[in-house]
Amino acid sequence: KPRVFHDPSELRVAIRQAQASGQRVGLVPTMGALHEGHLSLVAESQKSCDLTVVTIFVNPTQFAPGEDFEKYPRTLDTDLELLSRFEPVWVLAPEVEAMYPPGSTTEVKAPQIARMLEGEFRPTHFDGVATIVLKLFQVAPADAAYFGQKDFQQVRVIEEMVRDLLVPIEVVRCPIVREEDGLAMSSRNRYLSADERQIALSISQTLDAACLQIERHATNATTLCAEMLQCLRDDGVVPEYVTIADPRTLKSVETIEAEVVILVAAKVGTTRLIDNMLVSPP
Ligand code: PAJ
Repeated sequence: KPRVFHDPSELRVAIRQAQASGQRVGLVPTMGALHEGHLSLVAESQKSCDLTVVTIFVNPTQFAPGEDFEKYPRTLDTDLELLSRFEPVWVLAPEVEAMYPPGSTTEVKAPQIARMLEGEFRPTHFDGVATIVLKLFQVAPADAAYFGQKDFQQVRVIEEMVRDLLVPIEVVRCPIVREEDGLAMSSRNRYLSADERQIALSISQTLDAACLQIERHATNATTLCAEMLQCLRDDGVVPEYVTIADPRTLKSVETIEAEVVILVAAKVGTTRLIDNMLVSPP
């Protein structure tokens, strides 16, 4: 079983000691309810690090009132069980008060890139993410931090924050892990009923179909997005946005001339899901 820390300062001291003895430390920030997507980040860290630190913390400031903070799954025992297949792993599972000292009012204002897409539907979300991730970098001063492309805009926000605030950590992007039928793994998938789970499949299928069209020389992004919206709606998914964008700026493109990322956010019942795919024209 992994070594578990609840006290952030204790973890920082231990990490400093490991680094002083020459170990390279990798950090995998999570909100728990771990699945193979999270575990792929741990595996990636293990490839190039001697020690991997996984943080498990459901961060209140990245949830808006009315979102699922209270009902977000908290499954620490199962999470530790899943992590026991990796060695050596340390886990930080702090209380809210340890990460947000009573009276604290300082926040990180997320970079510009946070304003579009997710930012339009969740305007306070990325400030909360940037704030907690910077705090995690402080208490777990690792050499590298691993993030999934499942949250494509999130990893861009963190890359920009690290650059802008001169944070001494290497950000590593990892590919999306999917269920066998294509559904992107997510802790929120457990909210789906059996029927909704079937409907949710439309998201990855619609993305796949769009990629295929681009590979077959489709270049009109506006038309492709309109077709995707139609597909999703026909299948009973309620899209919030569908965009074909420049993978660096996340600005939508009209004509596909270079690599793009196709991003989808949609509701299936009351569950909000996101997915994306990177694709290059032939
Ligand atoms: P969480 O949703 O738990 O995700 C933790 C990390 O796992 C993120 O980097 C996310 O992109 C990655 N991840 C999730 N599903 C994945 C999948 N199917 N394939 C590959 N990687 C996947 O993202 C957060 O937590 C929080 O916002 C956090 C960064 C921890 C800040 O609170």
